[in-house]
Amino acid sequence: MSSRRANRASGGNVEANAIVSQGVAASESKDTPLLVARNIVKSYRTSRRSGNLVEALRGVSLELRVGKVVALVGESGSGKSTIARILAGQEGPSSGEILYDGSVVNFRGSRNYRNYKSKVQMVFQDPFASLNPIHTVAYHLSRPLAIHGSEKVSDSALEELCEQVRLVPPGRFLSKFPHELSGGQRQRAAIARALAARPRVLLADEPVSMLDVSIRLEVLNLLDQLRSKFSLAMLYITHDIASARYFADEILVMYKGVIVERGGAEEVTQSPQHPYTKLLIDSSPDPDDLGSNLRSSNGADVRALAVQGGSMKGCRFAPRCPLAMDRCLVEDPALVSISSSRRVACWAVTDPNGAEGSVLTEGGVRGKL
Ligand SMILES: Nc1ncnc2c1ncn2[C@@H]1O[C@H](COP(=O)(O)OP(=O)(O)OP(=O)(O)O)[C@@H](O)[C@H]1O
Ligand code: SF4
Ligand SMILES: [Mg+2]
Repeated sequence: MSSRRANRASGGNVEANAIVSQGVAASESKDTPLLVARNIVKSYRTSRRSGNLVEALRGVSLELRVGKVVALVGESGSGKSTIARILAGQEGPSSGEILYDGSVVNFRGSRNYRNYKSKVQMVFQDPFASLNPIHTVAYHLSRPLAIHGSEKVSDSALEELCEQVRLVPPGRFLSKFPHELSGGQRQRAAIARALAARPRVLLADEPVSMLDVSIRLEVLNLLDQLRSKFSLAMLYITHDIASARYFADEILVMYKGVIVERGGAEEVTQSPQHPYTKLLIDSSPDPDDLGSNLRSSNGADVRALAVQGGSMKGCRFAPRCPLAMDRCLVEDPALVSISSSRRVACWAVTDPNGAEGSVLTEGGVRGKL
Protein backbone atom coordinates (compact mmCIF):
# COMPACT_ATOMS: atom_id res chain seq x y z
CA MET A 1 0.00 0.00 0.00
CA SER A 2 2.84 2.44 0.61
CA SER A 3 3.77 2.34 -3.07
CA ARG A 4 0.10 2.93 -3.81
CA ARG A 5 0.23 6.08 -1.70
CA ALA A 6 3.37 7.17 -3.54
CA ASN A 7 1.63 6.63 -6.87
CA ARG A 8 -1.32 8.55 -5.62
CA ALA A 9 0.85 11.52 -4.74
CA SER A 10 1.87 11.79 -8.39
CA GLY A 11 -1.80 12.47 -9.22
CA GLY A 12 -3.41 11.96 -12.61
CA ASN A 13 -5.33 13.65 -15.37
CA VAL A 14 -8.23 15.65 -14.12
CA GLU A 15 -11.14 15.88 -16.47
CA ALA A 16 -12.05 19.56 -16.25
CA ASN A 17 -15.77 19.10 -16.33
CA ALA A 18 -17.35 21.88 -14.36
CA ILE A 19 -20.97 20.90 -14.11
CA VAL A 20 -22.50 23.63 -12.06
CA SER A 21 -23.27 27.15 -13.06
CA GLN A 22 -20.22 28.99 -11.76
CA GLY A 23 -18.13 26.24 -13.34
CA VAL A 24 -14.74 26.84 -11.71
CA ALA A 25 -12.65 23.70 -12.10
CA ALA A 26 -11.45 23.99 -8.54
CA SER A 27 -10.38 20.35 -8.44
CA GLU A 28 -7.59 20.99 -10.94
CA SER A 29 -5.52 21.96 -7.96
CA LYS A 30 -5.03 18.62 -6.20
CA ASP A 31 -5.34 20.10 -2.75
CA THR A 32 -8.66 21.70 -3.53
CA PRO A 33 -11.51 19.35 -2.66
CA LEU A 34 -13.68 18.15 -5.53
CA LEU A 35 -16.66 17.35 -3.32
CA VAL A 36 -17.38 19.04 0.00
CA ALA A 37 -20.08 18.42 2.58
CA ARG A 38 -20.43 21.47 4.77
CA ASN A 39 -22.16 21.22 8.11
CA ILE A 40 -24.76 18.68 7.00
CA VAL A 41 -27.69 18.08 9.31
CA LYS A 42 -30.23 15.37 8.52
CA SER A 43 -33.28 14.62 10.63
CA TYR A 44 -35.91 11.97 10.01
CA ARG A 45 -39.39 11.90 11.42
CA THR A 46 -39.82 8.66 13.34
CA SER A 47 -43.62 8.63 13.12
CA ARG A 48 -46.21 10.89 11.59
CA ARG A 49 -48.28 10.95 14.76
CA SER A 50 -45.63 11.83 17.32
CA GLY A 51 -43.68 14.14 15.08
CA ASN A 52 -40.52 12.93 16.85
CA LEU A 53 -37.29 13.47 14.98
CA VAL A 54 -34.16 11.33 14.88
CA GLU A 55 -31.08 13.38 14.10
CA ALA A 56 -29.05 11.07 11.83
CA LEU A 57 -26.41 13.71 11.07
CA ARG A 58 -25.51 16.58 13.33
CA GLY A 59 -23.27 19.00 11.42
CA VAL A 60 -21.08 16.66 9.37
CA SER A 61 -18.37 18.18 7.19
CA LEU A 62 -15.97 16.32 4.93
CA GLU A 63 -13.93 16.86 1.79
CA LEU A 64 -13.11 14.43 -1.02
CA ARG A 65 -10.06 15.16 -3.16
CA VAL A 66 -9.05 13.97 -6.60
CA GLY A 67 -7.22 10.64 -6.39
CA LYS A 68 -7.62 10.33 -2.61
CA VAL A 69 -9.59 7.98 -0.40
CA VAL A 70 -11.41 9.16 2.71
CA ALA A 71 -12.65 6.38 4.99
CA LEU A 72 -15.74 6.92 7.09
CA VAL A 73 -15.64 4.51 10.00
CA GLY A 74 -18.21 3.82 12.67
CA GLU A 75 -20.54 1.24 14.07
CA SER A 76 -24.07 0.58 12.88
CA GLY A 77 -26.42 3.57 12.97
CA SER A 78 -23.73 6.23 13.09
CA GLY A 79 -24.99 7.92 9.93
CA LYS A 80 -22.45 6.69 7.36
CA SER A 81 -24.97 5.68 4.70
CA THR A 82 -27.03 8.80 5.32
CA ILE A 83 -24.15 11.11 4.43
CA ALA A 84 -23.35 8.91 1.40
CA ARG A 85 -26.94 9.10 0.15
CA ILE A 86 -26.90 12.87 0.54
CA LEU A 87 -23.58 13.15 -1.29
CA ALA A 88 -24.97 10.93 -4.06
CA GLY A 89 -27.99 13.20 -4.42
CA GLN A 90 -30.44 10.49 -3.42
CA GLU A 91 -31.88 12.72 -0.73
CA GLY A 92 -31.39 16.30 0.39
CA PRO A 93 -29.99 17.49 3.71
CA SER A 94 -32.18 19.15 6.34
CA SER A 95 -29.57 21.90 6.37
CA GLY A 96 -26.01 22.43 5.21
CA GLU A 97 -24.44 22.54 1.77
CA ILE A 98 -22.80 20.27 -0.77
CA LEU A 99 -20.18 21.86 -3.01
CA TYR A 100 -18.96 20.23 -6.20
CA ASP A 101 -15.94 21.66 -7.98
CA GLY A 102 -16.20 24.84 -5.94
CA SER A 103 -19.90 25.51 -6.47
CA VAL A 104 -22.93 24.86 -4.30
CA VAL A 105 -25.09 22.01 -5.61
CA ASN A 106 -28.69 22.93 -6.15
CA PHE A 107 -30.83 20.00 -5.02
CA ARG A 108 -33.95 21.12 -6.86
CA GLY A 109 -33.79 18.84 -9.89
CA SER A 110 -32.03 21.19 -12.30
CA ARG A 111 -30.17 19.87 -15.37
CA ASN A 112 -26.90 20.56 -13.58
CA TYR A 113 -28.11 18.50 -10.66
CA ARG A 114 -28.70 15.54 -12.97
CA ASN A 115 -25.16 15.94 -14.26
CA TYR A 116 -23.94 16.03 -10.68
CA LYS A 117 -25.67 12.74 -9.97
CA SER A 118 -23.86 11.09 -12.87
CA LYS A 119 -20.48 12.37 -11.70
CA VAL A 120 -21.02 11.12 -8.16
CA GLN A 121 -21.70 7.38 -8.22
CA MET A 122 -22.37 4.90 -5.46
CA VAL A 123 -21.37 1.28 -4.92
CA PHE A 124 -23.55 -0.49 -2.36
CA GLN A 125 -22.89 -3.12 0.25
CA ASP A 126 -25.12 -5.80 -1.25
CA PRO A 127 -24.40 -6.36 -4.94
CA PHE A 128 -27.25 -8.85 -5.22
CA ALA A 129 -29.81 -6.31 -4.04
CA SER A 130 -28.33 -3.53 -6.16
CA LEU A 131 -28.56 -5.49 -9.43
CA ASN A 132 -31.89 -6.33 -11.00
CA PRO A 133 -32.26 -10.14 -11.11
CA ILE A 134 -34.18 -10.10 -14.39
CA HIS A 135 -31.50 -8.25 -16.36
CA THR A 136 -28.12 -9.31 -17.70
CA VAL A 137 -24.79 -7.67 -16.95
CA ALA A 138 -24.89 -6.15 -20.46
CA TYR A 139 -28.24 -4.49 -19.67
CA HIS A 140 -26.97 -3.12 -16.35
CA LEU A 141 -23.97 -1.55 -18.08
CA SER A 142 -25.87 -0.30 -21.15
CA ARG A 143 -28.32 1.86 -19.26
CA PRO A 144 -25.84 4.20 -17.55
CA LEU A 145 -23.78 4.33 -20.76
CA ALA A 146 -26.89 5.44 -22.64
CA ILE A 147 -28.03 7.92 -19.97
CA HIS A 148 -24.74 9.41 -18.80
CA GLY A 149 -21.98 8.24 -21.08
CA SER A 150 -20.47 10.42 -23.75
CA GLU A 151 -20.02 7.49 -26.13
CA LYS A 152 -22.55 5.23 -27.83
CA VAL A 153 -23.51 1.91 -26.30
CA SER A 154 -21.32 -0.39 -28.32
CA ASP A 155 -20.05 -3.90 -27.72
CA SER A 156 -16.56 -2.50 -27.32
CA ALA A 157 -17.72 0.00 -24.65
CA LEU A 158 -19.38 -2.84 -22.72
CA GLU A 159 -16.32 -5.05 -23.07
CA GLU A 160 -14.02 -2.26 -21.94
CA LEU A 161 -16.10 -1.81 -18.77
CA CYS A 162 -15.88 -5.53 -18.03
CA GLU A 163 -12.13 -5.46 -18.55
CA GLN A 164 -11.76 -2.50 -16.21
CA VAL A 165 -13.27 -4.55 -13.37
CA ARG A 166 -11.52 -7.80 -14.43
CA LEU A 167 -14.65 -9.60 -15.58
CA VAL A 168 -12.67 -11.35 -18.27
CA PRO A 169 -13.13 -12.54 -20.88
CA PRO A 170 -16.06 -10.07 -21.18
CA GLY A 171 -17.98 -12.36 -23.52
CA ARG A 172 -18.36 -14.83 -20.67
CA PHE A 173 -20.00 -12.30 -18.35
CA LEU A 174 -22.05 -9.85 -20.41
CA SER A 175 -24.88 -12.29 -21.06
CA LYS A 176 -25.04 -13.53 -17.46
CA PHE A 177 -27.78 -12.73 -14.94
CA PRO A 178 -26.85 -11.67 -11.38
CA HIS A 179 -27.72 -15.09 -9.90
CA GLU A 180 -25.23 -16.71 -12.30
CA LEU A 181 -22.34 -14.70 -10.80
CA SER A 182 -20.38 -15.18 -7.59
CA GLY A 183 -20.60 -12.46 -4.92
CA GLY A 184 -17.28 -10.98 -6.00
CA GLN A 185 -18.27 -11.01 -9.67
CA ARG A 186 -21.57 -9.33 -8.84
CA GLN A 187 -19.77 -6.58 -6.95
CA ARG A 188 -17.41 -6.13 -9.93
CA ALA A 189 -20.45 -5.79 -12.19
CA ALA A 190 -21.92 -3.19 -9.81
CA ILE A 191 -18.62 -1.28 -9.86
CA ALA A 192 -18.57 -1.45 -13.68
CA ARG A 193 -22.08 -0.02 -13.74
CA ALA A 194 -20.93 2.90 -11.57
CA LEU A 195 -17.94 3.46 -13.89
CA ALA A 196 -20.22 3.51 -16.95
CA ALA A 197 -21.42 6.96 -15.91
CA ARG A 198 -17.81 8.24 -16.10
CA PRO A 199 -17.86 9.43 -12.49
CA ARG A 200 -15.30 11.62 -10.80
CA VAL A 201 -16.42 10.61 -7.31
CA LEU A 202 -17.10 7.08 -6.09
CA LEU A 203 -18.97 6.54 -2.83
CA ALA A 204 -18.38 2.96 -1.73
CA ASP A 205 -20.75 2.03 1.10
CA GLU A 206 -19.25 -1.07 2.74
CA PRO A 207 -18.33 -2.47 -0.68
CA VAL A 208 -16.67 -5.63 0.62
CA SER A 209 -18.42 -6.40 3.89
CA MET A 210 -20.85 -8.91 2.32
CA LEU A 211 -18.17 -10.65 0.30
CA ASP A 212 -16.28 -13.75 1.24
CA VAL A 213 -13.25 -12.83 3.32
CA SER A 214 -10.96 -14.42 0.72
CA ILE A 215 -11.97 -11.95 -2.01
CA ARG A 216 -12.34 -8.74 0.01
CA LEU A 217 -8.76 -7.73 -0.58
CA GLU A 218 -9.06 -8.37 -4.32
CA VAL A 219 -12.06 -6.06 -4.59
CA LEU A 220 -10.40 -3.39 -2.41
CA ASN A 221 -7.32 -3.59 -4.62
CA LEU A 222 -9.52 -3.25 -7.71
CA LEU A 223 -11.11 -0.10 -6.26
CA ASP A 224 -7.67 1.23 -5.52
CA GLN A 225 -6.50 0.61 -9.09
CA LEU A 226 -9.61 2.34 -10.45
CA ARG A 227 -9.02 5.27 -8.10
CA SER A 228 -5.53 5.62 -9.49
CA LYS A 229 -6.43 5.07 -13.16
CA PHE A 230 -9.37 7.51 -13.23
CA SER A 231 -8.16 9.91 -10.51
CA LEU A 232 -11.36 9.20 -8.60
CA ALA A 233 -12.14 10.97 -5.37
CA MET A 234 -13.38 8.16 -3.15
CA LEU A 235 -15.38 7.77 0.04
CA TYR A 236 -14.89 4.35 1.60
CA ILE A 237 -17.49 3.49 4.24
CA THR A 238 -16.68 0.66 6.60
CA HIS A 239 -17.12 -0.78 10.07
CA ASP A 240 -13.57 -2.05 9.90
CA ILE A 241 -10.95 0.49 10.92
CA ALA A 242 -8.17 -1.96 9.99
CA SER A 243 -9.23 -1.98 6.34
CA ALA A 244 -9.55 1.81 6.48
CA ARG A 245 -5.92 2.05 7.50
CA TYR A 246 -4.94 -0.18 4.60
CA PHE A 247 -7.04 1.54 1.97
CA ALA A 248 -7.51 5.21 2.88
CA ASP A 249 -5.46 8.39 3.04
CA GLU A 250 -7.66 9.97 5.68
CA ILE A 251 -9.95 8.47 8.31
CA LEU A 252 -13.06 10.10 9.71
CA VAL A 253 -14.48 8.38 12.76
CA MET A 254 -18.21 8.85 13.16
CA TYR A 255 -20.41 8.27 16.17
CA LYS A 256 -24.16 8.92 16.27
CA GLY A 257 -24.19 11.49 13.50
CA VAL A 258 -21.04 13.34 14.53
CA ILE A 259 -17.41 13.17 13.35
CA VAL A 260 -15.50 12.60 16.58
CA GLU A 261 -11.98 12.26 15.19
CA ARG A 262 -10.30 12.78 11.84
CA GLY A 263 -6.77 12.71 10.50
CA GLY A 264 -4.28 10.80 8.37
CA ALA A 265 -5.04 7.07 8.22
CA GLU A 266 -1.74 6.11 9.81
CA GLU A 267 -1.87 8.59 12.67
CA VAL A 268 -5.50 7.91 13.57
CA THR A 269 -4.91 4.16 13.72
CA GLN A 270 -1.46 4.33 15.30
CA SER A 271 -2.26 6.93 17.94
CA PRO A 272 -6.02 7.22 18.34
CA GLN A 273 -7.07 10.11 20.58
CA HIS A 274 -10.83 9.87 20.99
CA PRO A 275 -12.04 7.16 23.40
CA TYR A 276 -14.42 5.86 20.72
CA THR A 277 -11.61 5.52 18.15
CA LYS A 278 -9.63 3.58 20.75
CA LEU A 279 -12.56 1.24 21.31
CA LEU A 280 -12.97 0.73 17.57
CA ILE A 281 -9.32 -0.24 17.28
CA ASP A 282 -9.42 -2.48 20.35
CA SER A 283 -12.51 -4.26 19.07
CA SER A 284 -11.50 -4.44 15.41
CA PRO A 285 -12.54 -6.40 13.37
CA ASP A 286 -15.92 -6.28 15.10
CA PRO A 287 -16.62 -2.67 16.07
CA ASP A 288 -20.26 -3.43 16.85
CA ASP A 289 -19.17 -5.61 19.76
CA LEU A 290 -17.89 -2.89 22.05
CA GLY A 291 -19.62 -3.97 25.21
CA SER A 292 -16.65 -5.74 26.79
CA ASN A 293 -14.47 -2.68 26.34
CA LEU A 294 -16.88 -0.22 27.91
CA ARG A 295 -15.38 -0.27 31.36
CA SER A 296 -13.92 2.63 33.24
CA SER A 297 -10.51 2.21 34.83
CA ASN A 298 -12.04 1.22 38.18
CA GLY A 299 -14.18 -1.42 36.47
CA ALA A 300 -17.50 0.41 36.71
CA ASP A 301 -19.74 0.31 33.67
CA VAL A 302 -20.32 4.03 33.26
CA ARG A 303 -23.02 3.64 30.64
CA ALA A 304 -25.89 3.42 33.11
CA LEU A 305 -24.44 6.19 35.28
CA ALA A 306 -24.23 8.65 32.47
CA VAL A 307 -27.66 7.81 31.18
CA GLN A 308 -29.12 8.42 34.63
CA GLY A 309 -27.26 11.59 35.33
CA GLY A 310 -26.97 13.14 31.92
CA SER A 311 -29.02 14.71 29.20
CA MET A 312 -28.65 14.34 25.44
CA LYS A 313 -27.27 17.86 25.29
CA GLY A 314 -23.67 16.88 25.82
CA CYS A 315 -21.28 14.46 24.16
CA ARG A 316 -23.20 11.65 22.49
CA PHE A 317 -20.57 9.16 23.53
CA ALA A 318 -20.85 10.03 27.23
CA PRO A 319 -23.20 7.15 28.10
CA ARG A 320 -20.51 4.71 26.95
CA CYS A 321 -17.33 6.62 27.72
CA PRO A 322 -14.93 5.45 30.45
CA LEU A 323 -13.61 9.02 30.73
CA ALA A 324 -16.97 10.82 30.94
CA MET A 325 -16.95 13.90 33.16
CA ASP A 326 -19.79 16.03 34.45
CA ARG A 327 -19.11 18.53 31.74
CA CYS A 328 -19.48 15.88 29.01
CA LEU A 329 -23.12 15.38 29.94
CA VAL A 330 -24.08 18.98 29.33
CA GLU A 331 -21.55 20.47 26.87
CA ASP A 332 -21.09 19.09 23.37
CA PRO A 333 -17.37 18.99 22.50
CA ALA A 334 -16.51 20.65 19.18
CA LEU A 335 -14.16 19.05 16.64
CA VAL A 336 -10.93 20.88 17.50
CA SER A 337 -7.53 20.83 15.78
CA ILE A 338 -4.87 19.21 17.92
CA SER A 339 -2.26 19.32 15.12
CA SER A 340 -2.11 20.49 11.52
CA SER A 341 -3.77 17.29 10.26
CA ARG A 342 -5.71 16.05 13.26
CA ARG A 343 -9.03 17.00 14.82
CA VAL A 344 -10.77 15.51 17.82
CA ALA A 345 -14.09 16.18 19.57
CA CYS A 346 -13.44 15.20 23.17
CA TRP A 347 -13.05 17.31 26.31
CA ALA A 348 -10.58 14.86 27.80
CA VAL A 349 -8.27 15.40 24.82
CA THR A 350 -8.79 19.02 23.86
CA ASP A 351 -9.33 20.57 27.28
CA PRO A 352 -8.34 18.05 29.96
CA ASN A 353 -7.94 20.65 32.70
CA GLY A 354 -10.60 23.03 31.46
CA ALA A 355 -13.59 21.88 33.46
CA GLU A 356 -13.72 19.86 36.61
CA GLY A 357 -11.38 17.26 35.14
CA SER A 358 -13.07 14.44 36.97
CA VAL A 359 -14.39 11.11 35.85
CA LEU A 360 -17.86 9.81 36.69
CA THR A 361 -17.64 6.56 38.56
CA GLU A 362 -20.14 4.26 40.16
CA GLY A 363 -22.48 6.01 42.57
CA GLY A 364 -21.64 9.41 41.11
CA VAL A 365 -18.33 9.67 43.03
CA ARG A 366 -15.71 11.56 41.06
CA GLY A 367 -12.19 10.30 40.52
CA LYS A 368 -9.30 12.29 39.09
CA LEU A 369 -8.38 11.76 35.44
N1 LIG B 1 -35.24 6.94 6.14
C1 LIG B 1 -35.02 6.96 7.45
N2 LIG B 1 -36.01 7.18 8.32
C2 LIG B 1 -35.81 7.22 9.67
N3 LIG B 1 -34.59 7.03 10.24
C3 LIG B 1 -33.56 6.81 9.41
C4 LIG B 1 -33.70 6.76 7.98
N4 LIG B 1 -32.49 6.53 7.43
C5 LIG B 1 -31.63 6.44 8.47
N5 LIG B 1 -32.27 6.61 9.64
C6 LIG B 1 -31.64 6.59 10.98
O1 LIG B 1 -30.48 7.39 10.91
C7 LIG B 1 -29.44 6.79 11.67
C8 LIG B 1 -28.24 6.58 10.80
O2 LIG B 1 -28.52 5.56 9.85
P1 LIG B 1 -27.48 5.08 8.75
O3 LIG B 1 -28.14 4.04 7.93
O4 LIG B 1 -26.95 6.26 8.02
O5 LIG B 1 -26.32 4.45 9.64
P2 LIG B 1 -25.04 3.61 9.17
O6 LIG B 1 -23.88 4.19 9.89
O7 LIG B 1 -24.98 3.56 7.69
O8 LIG B 1 -25.35 2.17 9.77
P3 LIG B 1 -24.95 0.72 9.18
O9 LIG B 1 -23.50 0.56 9.50
O10 LIG B 1 -25.83 -0.23 9.93
O11 LIG B 1 -25.21 0.71 7.71
C9 LIG B 1 -30.00 5.53 12.27
O12 LIG B 1 -30.45 5.82 13.57
C10 LIG B 1 -31.16 5.20 11.37
O13 LIG B 1 -32.15 4.48 12.06
S1 SF4 C 1 -16.17 14.46 25.62
FE1 SF4 C 1 -16.26 13.34 27.55
S2 SF4 C 1 -17.77 11.70 27.20
FE2 SF4 C 1 -17.20 12.52 25.21
S3 SF4 C 1 -15.59 11.16 24.52
FE3 SF4 C 1 -14.58 12.87 25.54
S4 SF4 C 1 -14.32 12.27 27.70
FE4 SF4 C 1 -15.78 10.84 26.74
MG1 LIG D 1 -25.00 1.97 6.31
